[in-house]
Amino acid sequence: MKLHRCGLSKIPAQKIAMETAPLILVVCYNNELGMDAMGSAYACIQNILLAATAEGLGAVTLTSRGNNIKNILNIPEGYDVAAIMPIGYPDEDPDKPIRIPVEDKLHNNMF
Ligand SMILES: Cc1cc2nc3c(=O)[nH]c(=O)nc-3n(C[C@H](O)[C@H](O)[C@H](O)COP(=O)(O)O)c2cc1C
Repeated sequence: MKLHRCGLSKIPAQKIAMETAPLILVVCYNNELGMDAMGSAYACIQNILLAATAEGLGAVTLTSRGNNIKNILNIPEGYDVAAIMPIGYPDEDPDKPIRIPVEDKLHNNMF
């Protein structure tokens, strides 16, 4: 599906990624295993983000609500989607985002 390029600036970056990325990974987990399975899926997602970055690729974590993607991809009962991850070669070199320093979030010995 090709984007209409006019008005591109009004389109959220995530939509552009979904419509132009050469690869979209959909990470699923067995929902009968509960939080442990979901936690494992998110550890996997973080590793995918790190590996993609190490290869010079761009990737992003997106979530989906509802069953639409499950129906489209024929994902069986018992599995949920943890994340949808468009992956591709970035065509921009954006400034590093501002992050809250780790020291402001880290607690030693007690909260
Ligand atoms: C669990 C999780 C789910 C997310 N889902 C969405 C989403 O559905 N749509 C979206 O625009 N961003 C979503 N984000 C945010 C993006 O993945 C990303 O963090 C955001 O675009 C900012 O990127 P940056 O932290 O590299 O600046 C999600 C992030 C996480 C951790």
